[in-house]
Amino acid sequence: MPDLFDVDNLWPHDYERVLELATKDDVGRVLEGDGVALLFEKPSARTRNSTEMAVVGLGGHPVYIQAAEVGLETRESAEDVARTLGCYHRILCARVFDHDVLPRMAFALEGSGFDVPVINLLSDEAHPCQAIADVITLREILGPLPGQVLAYIGDANNMCRSLVKVALMEGMDVRVASPPGYSFSAEELDRLHTFSTKVGRGGTLHVTEDPEVAAGGADALYTDVWTSMGQEEEMAIRREAFAPYIVDDALLDVAEPDVAVLHCLPAHRGEEITDAVLEGPHSVVWRQAAHRRTAMRGILAWAVEDS
Ligand code: CP
Ligand code: NVA
Repeated sequence: MPDLFDVDNLWPHDYERVLELATKDDVGRVLEGDGVALLFEKPSARTRNSTEMAVVGLGGHPVYIQAAEVGLETRESAEDVARTLGCYHRILCARVFDHDVLPRMAFALEGSGFDVPVINLLSDEAHPCQAIADVITLREILGPLPGQVLAYIGDANNMCRSLVKVALMEGMDVRVASPPGYSFSAEELDRLHTFSTKVGRGGTLHVTEDPEVAAGGADALYTDVWTSMGQEEEMAIRREAFAPYIVDDALLDVAEPDVAVLHCLPAHRGEEITDAVLEGPHSVVWRQAAHRRTAMRGILAWAVEDS
């Protein structure tokens, strides 16, 4: 089943196909007459709207559902919610807190004979749909990506994890700068290095506590919020830990002169990025946001391609 929990589900066979479908002039109305369920446990602006419009563009009908409305894990188990939605929809897209809910829903659907892929619209572990949009953006701006340097400054979170994986699939040299306690665990770092070797595109991954080491000579600089959805009670302690990790003009000075600045948004101006940088000439954040729809078209068309 073409489920998408994180971008490494696409390796090696489906990654280029998703990108090809995303950027092709016309992929046809492959969802004609079909419903697509969009289940959200957390707020969203870009993901909901880009996915709804991508579904409409493919001829389908999106149905937005708040998790509280169906009572995910309270009124009904995630498995029963998934199978219920599977009765009416061709694809189940979900934004959840606990990543494990996604494979549980996929397992329940498949085990009950539903031909309904599950697409991750952000979980606490991963944000694959954003990462695909970011690759489309990076390819457009930087050209061939192998050997180019991508620096991620901030929390080694869901966004960072998916971004690092796509960048390694692209053969990029990735650097991640995070404060102590907010980087990848040693085990996860091992897994990412193993993944990079398996991919065999020549990409590298270095982690550091020094934002300038990461940003030095970078072709692209990426950041995300210091406090992700669901971590709000840690906000004060995170603000203190991440204070030296702001993407500002001084950090841009050590990068390549034409460095591209990326942020998945929403941004907290004055925390992880200054207003001047976000609004400045290096920022490509609105192109990224626009490519969320491009990416969703490719992901949804891929999900129904072989069935
Ligand atoms: N980047 C992103 O996923 O934005 P939303 O949370 O607004 O969907
Ligand atoms: N890391 C952020 C990404 C938001 C799109 C979060 O999970 O809240």
